[in-house]
Amino acid sequence: MLPTLDARLSAAAELVRPGEPVADIGCDHGKLTAVLAASGKYPKVIGADLRPGPLAKAEQTLEYAGCKDRAELRLGDGLSVLSPGEVSTIVLAGVSAQTTWEIIEKAPWVSAPGGPRLVMVPATRHSDLRRWLWEHGFALAADRPVQAAGRWYAVMAAEYTGEVKTPAFRECLFGLTGQWPEGEGYAAWQKAKLPRLRLGVPDGTELAKEMDELIKGESKA
Ligand SMILES: C[S@@+](CC[C@H](N)C(=O)[O-])C[C@H]1O[C@@H](n2cnc3c(N)ncnc32)[C@H](O)[C@@H]1O
Repeated sequence: MLPTLDARLSAAAELVRPGEPVADIGCDHGKLTAVLAASGKYPKVIGADLRPGPLAKAEQTLEYAGCKDRAELRLGDGLSVLSPGEVSTIVLAGVSAQTTWEIIEKAPWVSAPGGPRLVMVPATRHSDLRRWLWEHGFALAADRPVQAAGRWYAVMAAEYTGEVKTPAFRECLFGLTGQWPEGEGYAAWQKAKLPRLRLGVPDGTELAKEMDELIKGESKA
């Protein structure tokens, strides 16, 4: 039986480049790996995880879904399980923003023109991941707000262009989520975290000013 994907992973699946190889890094339960493999849309589907326990779960999921022969499971850290250029899309879902960029940094072939599309669903610090991507030459191709298990996620796709951008705080906070009807709910959720974040920012700085405007509602999402 095919597993059901939550809203995060369904949105991530929609952003995978069709007709080209794909890797699901940090696949854990293997649900996304199985759905991608069973779809028959991709010539190669790789599921990988740092730990053997999750990979054993993924193997079982593939077996139940009847598509064990259509996916490869690999054990290892981040993108070390791939050879450069082996896949056209890399999914990194459910790990922290910091783990996401550390995984990307360890594989320089990803940060090159014509490199793979990154599909990311950070578990934390969406704003920091957007900033990191822009400051490291990636452009956001998609940034979709979704709700799953009672909280908001941003499902992002990014591609390397080499064009470095220095984003304002509010751009990092909302990204491109305002393009979606759900963007309003996402923005309210992001704004609700601001008073706590503001406590760590010295008064009088540009960042403090920008945060204060957002908190007072003078700057719309
Ligand atoms: C919370 S699960 C997310 C599972 C699935 N991707 C999802 O979003 O539902 C995170 C998984 O990432 C794996 N992981 C963490 N760091 C990793 C790394 N550096 N390389 C590969 N897998 C990693 C963990 O072992 C765990 O199975």
